[in-house]
Amino acid sequence: MARPRVLSGIQPTADSFHLGNYLGAVRQWIALQDSHDAFYMVVDLHALTVHPSAPELRRRSRVAAAQLFACGLDPERSSVFVQSHVREHSELAWILICQTGMGEAGRMTQFKDKSAKAGENAAGVGLFTYPILQAADILLYQADQVPVGADQKQHLELTRDLAQRFNTRYGPTFTVPSAFILKEVEKITDLQDPTAKMSKSSSSPQGILDVLEQPGPLRKKVMRAVTDTGSEVVADEENKPGITNLLRIQSAITGTPIPELEARYAGQGYGTFKKEVAEAIVELFEPIRERTEKLLGDEAELDRMLAIGAAKARAVAAETMEKVRANVGFLPTAG
Ligand code: TYM
Repeated sequence: MARPRVLSGIQPTADSFHLGNYLGAVRQWIALQDSHDAFYMVVDLHALTVHPSAPELRRRSRVAAAQLFACGLDPERSSVFVQSHVREHSELAWILICQTGMGEAGRMTQFKDKSAKAGENAAGVGLFTYPILQAADILLYQADQVPVGADQKQHLELTRDLAQRFNTRYGPTFTVPSAFILKEVEKITDLQDPTAKMSKSSSSPQGILDVLEQPGPLRKKVMRAVTDTGSEVVADEENKPGITNLLRIQSAITGTPIPELEARYAGQGYGTFKKEVAEAIVELFEPIRERTEKLLGDEAELDRMLAIGAAKARAVAAETMEKVRANVGFLPTAG
């Protein structure tokens, strides 16, 4: 039997992934490449919504791709590619835009948050149609599962609705995908504002742990993470969101269940605990940073790796689009 298919994407909108991207998404992508037919992409079309300069987009796309390989994605076992290398994404996005209601797109909380930040009427149409392009990314590959963090739940719901609607209107065309979300790491929070998710658009860089950051600043940020009143290292979402976030991080990295960590740090105060969390993070990120730097040192090889992924992706995308074009009623091209 064919292996189930997974697909996911990450935006090249920062100079590094952060710990939330890694624990909430990329780590699962690596694990799933052994059991699944895996497609992972750097979504450069989505990145245009925030208007990077051309050199910036090129640099960040390569940095993102290099990090994916450095984190453990294997070009032999997964298809790792850049979204713009597969033209069908934009083509399917238009067709899906025509299936989407204004109200439905306007309800997306990420759109509402981002457009509120941009200021009244300053948000671009790209931001509005962003989740529909994301639906196209997923449906193009007939993905069964989409490994993401909790912030993508609503976009996945829209994707499912669009797939079902399209299948009803035009006949069976798309696999209806489901989100693959690991509860324990679905929302890693900001070190300075532990009720908000860690995010590249966060107000203070002190709250974000970047994968490519040097050990010194990483340690400092963990030691200065906002903690809660009291001195017990115990998980308590309500009263101790800061400590709970650090426990979650430590548990995910070391594979030690939270109750075991609580027992280990009982009576020791926050200092010892934070020091060990910092070390776990430094140990995790250091080899990834070194491998990323090495990969970025040979752009031709990196581009070659991405070309392998794009070729595999194109084959699947072309097959889906052929079906979509016929099902919506586009005339076949003669000759
Ligand atoms: P992006 O680039 O914002 O984030 C990449 C992945 O990281 C997850 N993530 C987090 N998980 C846990 N805690 C956090 N603090 C945290 N911050 C980010 C995100 O949930 C995501 O899985 N719209 C997508 C990109 C995309 C996509 C797709 C994803 C485009 N097309 C198709 C899946 C399938 C995004 O903005 O990712």
